[in-house]
Amino acid sequence: MHEFSLAADLPKAQRYAELLPQIRAMLDPEPELLNAALGNVCAVLKEQFDWLWVGFYLVNDEQNELLLAPFQGPPACTRIAKGRGVCGQAWAQAQTLVVADVSVHPDHIACSSRSRSEIVVPLYRRNGEIAGVLDVDAESVGAFDQTDAEWLEKVCAAITETAAL
Ligand code: SME
Repeated sequence: MHEFSLAADLPKAQRYAELLPQIRAMLDPEPELLNAALGNVCAVLKEQFDWLWVGFYLVNDEQNELLLAPFQGPPACTRIAKGRGVCGQAWAQAQTLVVADVSVHPDHIACSSRSRSEIVVPLYRRNGEIAGVLDVDAESVGAFDQTDAEWLEKVCAAITETAAL
């Protein structure tokens, strides 16, 4: 079993820098282990940053919507249409979205009333298609910035390189 270590008082970028190789080490190319790998990524991020919710939504091509995949945190909505909510917008626009205050964001889907800010990062297959999104919610306004966007994109890139998406 992997043991994770991080000093909570380090600057955020440094915490991500120490975390990324540990995340890489737990990814696995075996298709049967995709859920396990995604679940462990959620667990590591939630443990280290103490966010409200960390999880993946994966694209379902037949229904043209995102379906809830491995996550950590309160129960969440299971289906999100393309273009709807922050997740569906990040998918449709193929870009990372940082929402400082979800209460003023048009078309935010509130899965938990405790969520105050959110970041959604597209997750790509190796052929460039979008496989889904990584979604993170925090209980404070303005919890995420460009540092989070850069590093969570690196986390997703590591998943693209190694996991069987
Ligand atoms: N807030 C998201 C929905 C997913 S939950 O936050 C887990 C959205 O607006 O797409």
